Amino acid sequence: MTNMNEEYKLVPIVQLLANPEIFKDISVFLKISEKIVKLNFPDDAFKYILEKLQDKGVSQVYLTQEEFNQVLILLNSSELATLPEAKQVEVNQAAVNITRDFIKQFGITSEAIDVMNTANANIQAILASSPGLNAFVKRFKKNCSDEFLKLNLTNYLLSLVLGKFSWNSPLILQKAMLANYLCDIHLDKADFEVIKKCASNDLSLPQHIFDHPKKMSEQLKSRRDVVPSEVITIVEQHHERPDGKGYPYGLTASRFNQLSAIFIVCHEYIERLEECHFDYSQHARIAQELQSIYFGGPFDKAMDALVAVVES
Ligand SMILES: [Fe+2]
Repeated sequence: MTNMNEEYKLVPIVQLLANPEIFKDISVFLKISEKIVKLNFPDDAFKYILEKLQDKGVSQVYLTQEEFNQVLILLNSSELATLPEAKQVEVNQAAVNITRDFIKQFGITSEAIDVMNTANANIQAILASSPGLNAFVKRFKKNCSDEFLKLNLTNYLLSLVLGKFSWNSPLILQKAMLANYLCDIHLDKADFEVIKKCASNDLSLPQHIFDHPKKMSEQLKSRRDVVPSEVITIVEQHHERPDGKGYPYGLTASRFNQLSAIFIVCHEYIERLEECHFDYSQHARIAQELQSIYFGGPFDKAMDALVAVVES
């Protein structure tokens, strides 16, 4: 039995089994009758024991916060960059997912932000060889979860749209991409379905969904030493609209800066592309819908750049 005051993190077993090289030396715990118990098994039985647990209906195990930090350091290792491309996408996907889980449970740490920036830089380096948005979808649709495809498609689109602005720089792009990884950490798959349902039936959002931009931005504000202010603003505003019908604050066009406006239209474009199962032939209709909502202030230039990218 172990010290109950230590902090533990729930990790889905599927994540451990998908990345045995990262997790095999980490202590794994189970909760039995409200007590945390360490699993003891020889190295070569790692996979076998976890699969047996799955067979018994156990889907998650616990790691200590300290060991979880070790996982983050491993995920940030430069050795991972030497893996084959397909494996790199997989490992970087794990890095982003594990780090988002970590932040959800423990909050922001500098290690977590470093892992996200490194994983994103690795992914973008792989994506840089994609000739365009449609080619990107075709190439990665099979290998990534829908959520991961959506996250990286948004980042890829951000890189193309920001490229239309003379003040663009790798650092600004990195900030926008980091905001994208962070903004929906407190939502799960079911919440995204609720958002779509509420939007199409004109219903009010449940409070926790309505508040998620505020909740996450407040968490980020408590670590201004590691999170740039542009990232916090984007996270805070990512569901706002220039017509004042967004949430949670109902801001109007003059309250947005150019970077936030670019982020919002790219994020919304990919949301709508996902709704039609990433059918890129719908791009003109989606762009038209967005143009009827996102105009005024910095949104005019943001939409011009977005349309130029998706029509090219
Ligand atoms: Fe969101």
